[in-house]
Amino acid sequence: MSIVVTAASGQLGRLTVEALLARGVPASDIVATSRDVTRIKDFADRGVVVRRADFAEPDSLPAAFAGADRLLLISTTTPSERVANHRRAIDAAVAAGASLVAYTSMLRADTSTTSLAPTHSATEEYLRERLPSVMLRNGWYLENYTSQLPQVRQGGVVVGAAGHGRISAATRSDYAGAAASVLTTDGHAGNVYELGGDEAFTLAELAAAIAAATGERIEYAHLTADAFTQVLTDAGLPAELAHVLADADLAMSRDEMFTDSGDLRRLIGRPTTTLAEAITAALR
Ligand SMILES: NC(=O)c1ccc[n+]([C@@H]2O[C@H](COP(=O)([O-])OP(=O)(O)OC[C@H]3O[C@@H](n4cnc5c(N)ncnc54)[C@H](OP(=O)(O)O)[C@@H]3O)[C@@H](O)[C@H]2O)c1
Repeated sequence: MSIVVTAASGQLGRLTVEALLARGVPASDIVATSRDVTRIKDFADRGVVVRRADFAEPDSLPAAFAGADRLLLISTTTPSERVANHRRAIDAAVAAGASLVAYTSMLRADTSTTSLAPTHSATEEYLRERLPSVMLRNGWYLENYTSQLPQVRQGGVVVGAAGHGRISAATRSDYAGAAASVLTTDGHAGNVYELGGDEAFTLAELAAAIAAATGERIEYAHLTADAFTQVLTDAGLPAELAHVLADADLAMSRDEMFTDSGDLRRLIGRPTTTLAEAITAALR
């Protein structure tokens, strides 16, 4: 059985390939793809089949997906081209005769008010109409916060526009474990999984958790979405990304990044990594 993982050079894709190997899938049964195979040479060195796939170049896809039985379509990074790119990848998976495609969507993709949600719901719809599929609606990454720890500690403040909204964030590693689970076990076709961490938190609770882990005074400063966007662009983020992040925070303020489905812990077969554990690991 051949399992294709797209975007295997990315952070989630890498962890998913590792999770498949850890589950005992033979390396020769895994196909890892990237636009640049030199980025995943380490997988090739371990016996994983490595192929080039660029969703913007449909001609690259038949050879990349040849023999695919199950395929993980990891959502791409450029929102404006996302739907067209994903449609090309789905068409290629159909042509390759894949029996199942899992897609990394976003939490509550069908009802979310974020600017990113329509790209995910359009991909879901296209996929659902064409072949057996499973939606992995990933929530926010805990790493979106732990990667900011140096700046937070320097300023003594968590800045955001999420108000008192609860956020069911989880580690990329846990989401990758869920993907590996649906790719290696049966009975997932047609399912939609709302994936998030077991313990939701507000940004004030995030600040408190960082304070507890570091022994430092850290507070949460709530800003309007416009003010938060300005802070992010002043910090050097591209305007488009700053808008996306502020928009996500607004959605969080409405609890759109919250789930109590328990889907993630069921798929990985254990409790999800906690906020405190993720902070401790990032501080090491
Ligand atoms: N849940 C969240 O909090 C959150 C946050 C940010 C992003 N996301 C979404 O989750 C996805 C995975 O996250 P991540 O952390 O692994 O992102 P990442 O490390 O930035 O990886 C993105 C991947 O997208 C691939 N890619 C981009 N354009 C492509 C194209 N035209 N054709 C084929 N592959 C393409 C890249 O592959 P190559 O460059 O090697 O081809 C790369 O492997 C992101 O792409 C984004 O859609 C979720």
